[in-house]
Amino acid sequence: MDVTQLSSIQAAAQYVLKEEGQLDILINNAGISGVQGTHPSEQRIDEVITVYDTNVFGAIRVTQAFLPLLKAAGGAKIIMVSSGLGSLEWVSDPNHPYFKVNELGYNSSKTALNAVTIAFARQLKNQGISVNAVDPGYTATDFNGHSGYRSVA
Ligand SMILES: NC(=O)c1ccc[n+]([C@@H]2O[C@H](COP(=O)([O-])OP(=O)(O)OC[C@H]3O[C@@H](n4cnc5c(N)ncnc54)[C@H](OP(=O)(O)O)[C@@H]3O)[C@@H](O)[C@H]2O)c1
Repeated sequence: MDVTQLSSIQAAAQYVLKEEGQLDILINNAGISGVQGTHPSEQRIDEVITVYDTNVFGAIRVTQAFLPLLKAAGGAKIIMVSSGLGSLEWVSDPNHPYFKVNELGYNSSKTALNAVTIAFARQLKNQGISVNAVDPGYTATDFNGHSGYRSVA
C-alpha cells in the first residue's frame, strides 16, 4: 500500500480483514528522507510536506485504519520506526554525533512521530495494545546509499 493514499490503506485493511480477521503486529516502517544536505532556511516547504506525508501522516493514517483489526487480535502491538535524529536531546547536544545532521524535514518528522507514538500509547494502553517507537540506528539500506555502519541483519 501507499501510506500517503487513504484509499490504498483502506483497501489493504479490507484485505487483511477478509483474509485474517485480525492483526497482531503493525510495524509502521515506511519512511523517506527527502532532499538531504539543504540548510533549514533553504529547504522547500513542499519537500518538508512530502516527508511529513509519509513519515508522520502516513503512520497516523495506517494506525487509524488498522486499529479495528488490532483490537480484534487482543494484546496487539504497534511499532513506529523512528530515528535517533528525532531525539531533541541528541540533536541539541554538540557532543553527540547527530548534532551535525540538521535535516529540517526528516529530523522534525521523526520528532513528531515520537509524539504521535506517545499519543496513541496513552489512548490504547488500557485496551491492551502497546505502542512503541524503535530506532534501527545508522543502517546500510537504500535510504542512505548503503552508507550506514550497521547491517540490516
Ligand atoms: N537506514 C537508516 O540508517 C535508518 C536510521 C534510522 C531510522 N530509519 C528508518 O527506518 C525506516 C526504514 O528505512 P530503510 O533504511 O529501510 O530505508 P529504505 O530501504 O529506503 O526503505 C524505506 C521503505 O519505505 C517504503 N516507503 C516509502 N514511502 C512509502 C509510501 N508512501 N508508502 C509505502 N511505503 C513507502 C519503501 O517502499 P518502496 O521500496 O516501495 O519505495 C521502502 O520499503 C524508515 O522509517 C527510516 O526513517 C532508517
